[in-house]
Formats: sequence, structure tokens, C-alpha cells
Amino acid sequence: MTPVAIAHRLSAVPEYLFTSLAEKRRVLESAGKKIIDLSIGDPDLPTPQIIINRLKEAVDNPEHHRYPQGKGSEEFRSATARFYRRRFGVELDPETEVMAVVGTKEGLAHLPLALINPGEYALVPDPAYPVYRTAVCLAGGVVVALPLLAENDFLPDLKALSDTILKRTKLLFLNYPNNPTGAIATQAFYQEVCELARRYNFIICQDNAYADIYCGDEPPMSILAIEGAKEVAVEFYSLSKTFNMTGWRVGAIVGNPEVLSALAKLKSNIDSGLFSAIQSAAATALDSYELLHPQILNAYKERREIFLPALKEIGWHVNSASATFYCWAKYPDSRSSFDVCNELLDKCGIIASPGAGFGDFGEGYVRFSLTAPTHTIKQSAEILISTFTKQKTLYHSSP
Ligand code: MLT
Repeated sequence: MTPVAIAHRLSAVPEYLFTSLAEKRRVLESAGKKIIDLSIGDPDLPTPQIIINRLKEAVDNPEHHRYPQGKGSEEFRSATARFYRRRFGVELDPETEVMAVVGTKEGLAHLPLALINPGEYALVPDPAYPVYRTAVCLAGGVVVALPLLAENDFLPDLKALSDTILKRTKLLFLNYPNNPTGAIATQAFYQEVCELARRYNFIICQDNAYADIYCGDEPPMSILAIEGAKEVAVEFYSLSKTFNMTGWRVGAIVGNPEVLSALAKLKSNIDSGLFSAIQSAAATALDSYELLHPQILNAYKERREIFLPALKEIGWHVNSASATFYCWAKYPDSRSSFDVCNELLDKCGIIASPGAGFGDFGEGYVRFSLTAPTHTIKQSAEILISTFTKQKTLYHSSP
């Protein structure tokens, strides 16, 4: 049979990092190997019962069985606006400044198609959630990498961007608290980036998926809390991580109304919105944030306290003040992160994400996701210590 000729635009992008890692796990498990998966950030804890109960009720409502409103139900958009006011001190008009997305990955992946003409520039952090880069490539845009370096606290060095690049820039992706590095953005940084966007007339897309997973006392902020940010910015808020709802596929884009309406136009030609019953349950989640959040946050704090000391004990460096449920760990040798992850798998049975899977500047790091049960995190910590202290840290063991 003649092979199917796949479009060039698809051949030019890699397989999704976590699909490859899941496939690796599947192959090993089917060969009978016991695997601990600390790769994808997919919370093991169940969705809180109050949200599930609301879904059960909402499913019985025949009004929810018809096409949903493209931009999201009034119930969901109003709950999002109320949540933004309480949580971030940000006022949003639910009619024009809030829209539902089928999980923020979907919204992030479609946004460049709505904003970028072929050849226009998008500034994409490196390392980063791989979707930003892929989405720009699929839209025909040019990716300009913004290195996130430890010496700059994993914030991009905006001053290093030339006038020529900035004049051709249409879109800038940000993601704080940051996946994979765990870095948090300061108010001063957001102010600087908003000023730059205003000066050069580009849109900032801030992915705030991890706003509610942090270990310090100060909850991370929304970029929209910066005065005038709505003129230049949109933000994605995901329910996946805050409420253990990755499988539900529900999130919101908030901020600049013109950007939202462009994305709505695009999406109306692609999907038909998000099941209204899920939006109803998501509204309950947002309205119950204060009740549900402390317990979820404490689980991750406990896991960090177990896992970080183990990494330190085997000679890896992790910033203990970072946010998200990831540990962005620098290993003490110069092997590739793919080699180090293979060794973790062979010797410890642990799947972690190689830093280079998030971009060239992720090389030298491995990302561990603390989204496995606490007893599994404890077991992983013990395995790491017993494997690598026995042979004196990973790098001494390499030939
Ligand atoms: C991650 O593990 O980085 C992501 O959260 C996975 C995803 O959203 O697909």
C-alpha cells in the first residue's frame, strides 16, 4: 500500500512529549515491569465529591443535552468572573472578558491560529510546555525562543530582545508559576512585560494553569491584576490542576475582549463548545475554591517535603521555594537528560520527563511530577536514595 502523505505542517512538529512517555510506560508494563510514573502532571487525587455531585444533577437536565453556547454558559462565565474577583482581585465582564475552552491545552493550541499570520513572530519560552511552540509552528508562525535560565530565576531576559524582533512579534507566551521550572513571576516582571507589549503592540498569553499549586505563603498572582493589562493580555486558567479535573477538559480564557472574540470565531468553526453539564460542575468547583483548595495544596506540600530531600541527598539541585507540583532537578553531570531518564527507568523503574523534552534550554534537568500517591512518592524517594547513594550519585556511575 502507498503510504499516506501526511501534511508537511504536521511532519514538522514532534510527537507530543507525554504521548511518547506514556507509550514507553505501556510497553514496559506490558512486558511485566513495575513502573512508577512521575512524568505527566496528571493529579492522582480524585475530583472533589461536591463537583461530581453537581455533574450528576446537571446531566439529568435536558437543557444540557443540546449544543452548548460557543463562548461558554452564563453560569460558568459568571462563576469564573466571581472567582477572579475573589482569588486575584481582578474584575472581568463575563459577557466579553471570559470564555470557556475545552481544557486550556485546546485554547492555547488554537490561539496562534487566530492571531498569527505566516511568518510573524511568537516569543516562546524555552524550556516550556511543548504546546506553545507546536501551536505557533502549525499556524505558520516563527518561533523565537526566550531562554529561561537559572541565573535569571527562569524569567526571560526581555532586555535582550532586539528592536527588530520586537517589531515583528505578534504574540508572547508566558507561564507562571512555570512548568517545568516551578518559577514564579514577580509583579515587577509582569509590569515590564505589559509595558513592552504596549510599546510594540503584541499580545501576551499568560498560562496560569498552576496559579493554585504553590508552597510559599503568598499565592501567585494573575497578570490581569496589573493596571491596563487587559489592553495587551489574555490569561488561561485551568481547572485541571487546582481541582484534580484533568479528565474533564475544562478551562477558561480571560482578558482582552478582541482576542477572545477572535478565538471564539475560530473555535465556532472547529468545536461546538463544552458539554454544559461539565460547565455547571466547573462553576461549582470555582464557587467552592475556598473550601476545597487547602486540602489539595497540603497534599503537594507534604510530597515536596518527602521528595526534595531525597534529590538533595543524591546530589541533585532543586529550588525549594518553587511552585507547581513539579521538581525541576539539575543533575550533577553533563549527560543528556534523555540518558539520565533512561537510567532512572532502568535502575529505579521511575519514568520522569527529560528536561530537553521542554526545549534546548531544558537540557541538564529532569522534571519529576508529584502527582502520584504520597506513599508512591515516599517509595520513589527511598529508591532514589538507595540506588544512587549506594553507587555514589548518578554521575559517578556513568562510564
Ligand atoms: C505536563 O505534564 O506538563 C502537562 O500538564 C501535561 C498536559 O497538560 O498535557
